[in-house]
Amino acid sequence: MDNSDLANIGSDLDNENMTINNDNGHNDAALSRPVIQLEHLFKEYKLGKQRISVIDDVNLNILEGEFVAIVGASGSGKSTLLHLLGGLDKPSQGRVIIDGQDINKLSDSRLSKFRNQAIGFIFQSFYLQPFLTLRQNIEVASMPARINKKERRQKIDDLAKQVDLYDRLKHRPRELSGGQIQRAAIIRALLNNPKIILADEPTGNLDSKNSQDVISLFKDICSQYKTTVIIATHDQEIASQADHIITIKDGKIS
Ligand SMILES: Nc1ncnc2c1ncn2[C@@H]1O[C@H](COP(=O)(O)OP(=O)(O)O)[C@@H](O)[C@H]1O
Ligand SMILES: [Mg+2]
Repeated sequence: MDNSDLANIGSDLDNENMTINNDNGHNDAALSRPVIQLEHLFKEYKLGKQRISVIDDVNLNILEGEFVAIVGASGSGKSTLLHLLGGLDKPSQGRVIIDGQDINKLSDSRLSKFRNQAIGFIFQSFYLQPFLTLRQNIEVASMPARINKKERRQKIDDLAKQVDLYDRLKHRPRELSGGQIQRAAIIRALLNNPKIILADEPTGNLDSKNSQDVISLFKDICSQYKTTVIIATHDQEIASQADHIITIKDGKIS
């Protein structure tokens, strides 16, 4: 995996006056730069006349290359926080700043372009297309990236080998286990070399060996490419391997 497409993303967005830093982490000073800043973030849902406060004045800095675990009980707001971080949902108040840009100030089309280029999502609700093979499913997701076919094939092969899926690339999703589909979603999210990976319970369907392989892969990506990986998990053993554990309870983080 190289970072040439990250550089392309950077220059492309720069052209539109939206800066993505594409320092590949060769400079150690980059390690301490916040890639994501949450400022006075609130999220409420309305249920009839009732308001439910899920995120309640959260302030947070997440650094480049950090591996972050968001932990909390079911219903505590982990998925809500990931959606806000990825610009899939809008806060009720406050700011989500990625590389200096308040993402909620972008138009919908700019935000969607930004998401495609800068963020890799590993969410259980993003299903694979049933009629495509695994390889085709992974390729489809990489279409917006400026990466040539040969390079993409090679990258899919390399990543599939790393997560033990290489011999399944010609299969269709119905021929695969939940864990294999999960790992395919991870390859798909990694293919564009995003600066940020957001993963909602990425080891939820996996046995302990596969869970550990996935976590090891995330750790490698963080240290090798200075990718920031943020996962939601209720698994303490998984969370304990993160650089930074964020616990969410009653809308507050600690
Ligand atoms: N779209 C929505 N409308 C109303 N309530 C929601 C919505 N999404 C989530 N919630 C509520 O917000 C709270 C946090 O949900 P969620 O972020 O999914 O928690 P977690 O991922 O930690 O299990 C829950 O009480 C949930 O019912
Ligand atoms: Mg959730």
